[in-house]
Amino acid sequence: MKESQPSAIYLKDYTAPPFLIDKTELSFDLDESTTVVTSRLHMRRNPVFGASTVPLVLDGGPDVKLIGVAMDDYELPQEEYRVVDDQLIITATADSFVLTCETLIEPQNNTRLEGLYRSSSMFCTQCEAEGFRHITYYLDRPDVMSVFTTTIIADETRYPVMLSNGNEVERGKTDEGKTVVVWHDPFPKPAYLFALVAGDLAVKNDVFITQSQREVTLQIFTESHNIDKVDYAMEALKRSMRWDEETYGREYDLDIFMIVAVDDFNMGAMENKGLNIFNSSCLLASPETTTDDAYLRVEAIVAHEYFHNWSGNRVTCRDWFQLSLKEGFTVFRDQTFSADMHSATVKRVEDVSFLRTAQFAEDAGPMAHPVRPASFIEISNFYTLTVYEKGAEIVRMIHTLLGEEKFRAGSDLYFDRHDGQAVTCDDFVAAMQDASGVDLSQFKRWYSQAGTPKLSVTDAFDQALGKYCVTIKQDTPATPGQPTKLPLHIPVRIGLLDANGQSLSSSLDGATSEEHVLHLTDAEQSFEFTGLATRPVPSLLRGFSAPVKLDYNYSSQDLLLLMSSDSDGFNRWSAAQQLAVNELSQLITQAIKGETLAIESQLVHGFKALLADASLDPAMVALVLTLPNQAYLSEISTPIYPAEIKQARVYLKTLLAEALSADFERIYQQHRVTEEYQAVAEDIAHRSLKNVALSYWAEASSERAQQAVFEQFSTADNMTDQFAALSIAVHSQHNQAADMLAAFYEQWKTEPLVVNKWLMLSASQDNANALSIVKGLMAHPAFDLKNPNKVRSVLGGFGQNVAGFHKEDGSGYQFLADQIIVLNKRNPQIASRLCTPLTRWKKLKPELSAKMKSELERILAEDLSKDVYEVITKSLA
Ligand code: PHE
Ligand code: ZN
Repeated sequence: MKESQPSAIYLKDYTAPPFLIDKTELSFDLDESTTVVTSRLHMRRNPVFGASTVPLVLDGGPDVKLIGVAMDDYELPQEEYRVVDDQLIITATADSFVLTCETLIEPQNNTRLEGLYRSSSMFCTQCEAEGFRHITYYLDRPDVMSVFTTTIIADETRYPVMLSNGNEVERGKTDEGKTVVVWHDPFPKPAYLFALVAGDLAVKNDVFITQSQREVTLQIFTESHNIDKVDYAMEALKRSMRWDEETYGREYDLDIFMIVAVDDFNMGAMENKGLNIFNSSCLLASPETTTDDAYLRVEAIVAHEYFHNWSGNRVTCRDWFQLSLKEGFTVFRDQTFSADMHSATVKRVEDVSFLRTAQFAEDAGPMAHPVRPASFIEISNFYTLTVYEKGAEIVRMIHTLLGEEKFRAGSDLYFDRHDGQAVTCDDFVAAMQDASGVDLSQFKRWYSQAGTPKLSVTDAFDQALGKYCVTIKQDTPATPGQPTKLPLHIPVRIGLLDANGQSLSSSLDGATSEEHVLHLTDAEQSFEFTGLATRPVPSLLRGFSAPVKLDYNYSSQDLLLLMSSDSDGFNRWSAAQQLAVNELSQLITQAIKGETLAIESQLVHGFKALLADASLDPAMVALVLTLPNQAYLSEISTPIYPAEIKQARVYLKTLLAEALSADFERIYQQHRVTEEYQAVAEDIAHRSLKNVALSYWAEASSERAQQAVFEQFSTADNMTDQFAALSIAVHSQHNQAADMLAAFYEQWKTEPLVVNKWLMLSASQDNANALSIVKGLMAHPAFDLKNPNKVRSVLGGFGQNVAGFHKEDGSGYQFLADQIIVLNKRNPQIASRLCTPLTRWKKLKPELSAKMKSELERILAEDLSKDVYEVITKSLA
């Protein structure tokens, strides 16, 4: 452990910056050994402070070497400045001045992948959230916005492409023959949006004509061997630009928009002004190497980063507590975009399924925090599912409460009012409220209160009066630092069905309709529907109108009815999931008691009917057929028995497979796509249903199914089908699984992104020797500890490996802890993210819980980065 422990910073302590930087002039002399950075900062005291004497404090980093400081060209002697705890402090300053700093950095030794670093043969940057301070001393906070001019000096033979934000304004040569390129970005921005790239890159060019007829140059840069994989991203970019004009009235503002793909990147992608930088796994796509899911992810992330140009860049965050201001809103925007491009219901099911699995688990664990956190030790730890996904749900609820038109008026007002400013979540809600007249004062609690609310619903029917009464109780569980909770304003969309599944019209508070939005604002509240002849079946929380857990005592019969007939597609899926959860819960209980598993499954009937109905959207059928996964079942269990959950899932899946084997075979044959591969909704839908059917069919004892898996693997002309077959083989213990895995690697060993999929699948194999397999993978030539994608593939795959990770002797936990300890020094952000599975220790069954806890304690004894320290101490608290 360290002598002094890192401490938290608090939202309540926010104060405006004492100094501002109107102009930032940077110069980078790029070199293989040391890079010299010279900055000229045009600074002045912030008038809101009045006449003040506070010293100037600039943020730096441990690897930034200060060569010299000058104030208005007067070189400061050593006694006029000091560097303490990575901060440069200058006591005496004028009211306005130009500060010049010269610093040295070594990008080639930067393994944190924050600031300026090398990936393959190029230089690139990552500055969000606090990476800029690893480049030079600066006021590295988002409310300091500045106009940047960037000079890049490099050897043109090695770095013919030299990019930064904005427009290229000058190009020339130094006396030594190096090339000099100057970029200027006219839009003031915080340092976290700064970017620089230099390398030998290929480019794909295109053009977009904006709604006001301006021509924008579009460029995507990659290493030359990847340039044939950017067409899909380019089309997705143009669709995003058009959509943002049509849906939000937002037009692109510079004359050029650039995207660069890099292999080594901690996150998915980054919205730097005019120069987005992407993890290559989120940009590159080709039919042979990319699955349907990955295609859709590329489209969504290209859109997400593009949308940040308004929600994030033109209007940015005042401080990092407000991160969801840009992220929650932008996720909502990209979700809506994808829904518009493909099937809205399918998209909603996928998003909710992810939210309920991963975000709910986070919100119930030791790292639970409000969408607008009140404190943090390391901001990098707060790029969370809560800030992103729950943040998007908050915006979606505002959309539900206001309706389409008023929501648009609210977003127009927000962009208009705050263009060029750094603002807060309160400002966002205020704009929505002011433009709509809808009172959002109680609603705002969603930003400050952590934990997933639980709604307990009961009902009663009065036959004589034709009156149906629904009573809803809301309750949010305690979370760390928040022992008691207040009632939230929760929109609950509801419809009523008769016994044949027909939609019923009913009256609520004078409004007659087939669907109502209930405004739940009290701890307990009743709603009366009139005009009903018979007792209805309620379809509750349609479209998942709020991020809550719903408890209503549905009978299996009700669930089958909703599953087959509800007009709300989302709730049809949700009912099937609930039915599966009910059956799986029974089986899990039997497994825990050591009983023989046995069940009279109602799902068999539901699935049978589903498979017989050719009128349904195949993508929805595929989703309904997909059983709740291990992670979701773990989230809803206390305590978690990993092996028993797995046993129950395998049992139910096999039971359904045997009972419906002929149906699955038929569906498999019917949904084969014979045309050339295209990543379009219709084909994706057929492939997904076909592959789900194959995954069931392969669980039935059928020689033909085994043959079909092998054949699909060997003959597929696209990665979706090939990888689906391979995964099915691995997870169904196909007798040729090992050979297929080996053949797959041979076929794809020169495609790193495909190799990552191979690493992940190999690491997740359910096998008594799982741990030694994983150790073998980490020693494999295809592995590279420097590359976050590879680390995530292997250790992420292992985390899903029930037999390996949750092995009774604790060896899986010990192994993960060892890797965290190694990565803590090299790349704290990645190390911290790897801790996530260990943060669930309190919920595990006692024997495993104790073993996990002791690994957390072992990690804590190390000299930890702030990132890992925060997660480990909060987990043990
Ligand atoms: N701001 C990026 C996004 O969501 C995510 C990111 C955060 C990337 C921090 C890198 C570092 O679009
Ligand atoms: Zn984002």
